[in-house]
Amino acid sequence: MSTPNPRGRVLSGMRPTCRLHLGNYHGALRNWVRLQYEYECFFFVADWHMLTTGYEDTSRLPEFVHEVLIDWLAAGLNPGVATLFIQSHVPEHAELHLLLSMLTPLGWLERVPSYKDQQEQLKDRDLATYGFLGYPLLQAADILVYRAQHVPVGEDQVAHVELTRETARRFNHIYGRETDFEEKVERAIKGLGGRNTTLYRQLRRKFQEAGDQEALERGRALVHSNTRLTVADRDRLLGYLEGTGVTILPEPQVLLTQTPKVPGLDGRKMSKSYGNTIELREDPQSVERKLRAMKTDPARARRTDPGEPERCPVWDLHGIYSGEDTRKWVAEGCRSAGIGCLECKQPVIDKVLAEVTEMRRRAQEYTENPELLRDIVAEGAEKARDTARETMEEVRRAMHLRAD
Ligand code: TRP
Ligand code: SF4
Repeated sequence: MSTPNPRGRVLSGMRPTCRLHLGNYHGALRNWVRLQYEYECFFFVADWHMLTTGYEDTSRLPEFVHEVLIDWLAAGLNPGVATLFIQSHVPEHAELHLLLSMLTPLGWLERVPSYKDQQEQLKDRDLATYGFLGYPLLQAADILVYRAQHVPVGEDQVAHVELTRETARRFNHIYGRETDFEEKVERAIKGLGGRNTTLYRQLRRKFQEAGDQEALERGRALVHSNTRLTVADRDRLLGYLEGTGVTILPEPQVLLTQTPKVPGLDGRKMSKSYGNTIELREDPQSVERKLRAMKTDPARARRTDPGEPERCPVWDLHGIYSGEDTRKWVAEGCRSAGIGCLECKQPVIDKVLAEVTEMRRRAQEYTENPELLRDIVAEGAEKARDTARETMEEVRRAMHLRAD
């Protein structure tokens, strides 16, 4: 087994909506690319989640999954450092979802804001299904099955992570008590051996009696650094240190991504459903054509009319792609009618073209050698399953299912 990353584990997923666009990139992917070098990262394509809103025609699902994976690699996700996989290749997600469903009150799911919102928005589909109601619980299982500490998501997913935390708390509360906990933990403390046994007791006392946070951190580090501990004993020692029972499923935190606003070509938020996107691997001519036609401040009907950048979506693109000097040139030139809109767009066009060209270059290797992608997701699923299996053993044990 590899050593755990001291900064912890990150998990996130994305529904396979076919080809990704610049909104997906600047809103999420770019952040993942950075995180993969800082944390132990698991990223997966949430194909089961896709079924919750699109269960009737699944024929194009394999293609959608494929395109998203290629886009991830094109954007710079590195299968050498991050674990990339497909949700349905790891059945442990489904098993945990099932078990969690037994203890999740219906009201928790009905109250998640996205439940009613989505039903309103997708009126043409029948979303009065069991699976759709369970969407956030499946997401909770996705996260908890890896015992991830951090979940990088946007604002719209915060309620789902909150539900995940409540679910974990409820699970630990119900199943985190072992009848012979004290005995087992005592044995585990002795098992630490000599100085570490004494040190563990000292650190626990310092934290429990004086609330010494540093002692808690050192205690945790002591437990984590012991590679001979079984997972069950490690959990007992961590739980006892903090004065709780066994934490079988730790509560994850949202890693809120500060994302820039990515405008679509019509000025609304870039979104596939508005048909106003630029794809990550779009052909350069099309990129240029679209950007040249992109909406600007309507006040600038003629070249001589001054404009206001704050009312122009191109200005938001400058916020993403341009440095301070260029932005200053834009703001002044726009307000004084010193520059024309096409002139103003040119630096953005150049930057987007460079970005898209680089993505297309990275993708080429994978489109030309399909077996590469197959190997990446097979290896990813294997790695993911190793971790997920460990959690499920704990979960089953705690629930008295299969005592082996
Ligand atoms: N619901 C998320 C979205 O629509 C996708 C998702 C599924 C996810 N499972 C997850 C995100 C687990 C983070 C963690 O964007
Ligand atoms: Fe928008 Fe630039 Fe035209 Fe001003 S000059 S309206 S910022 S495109």
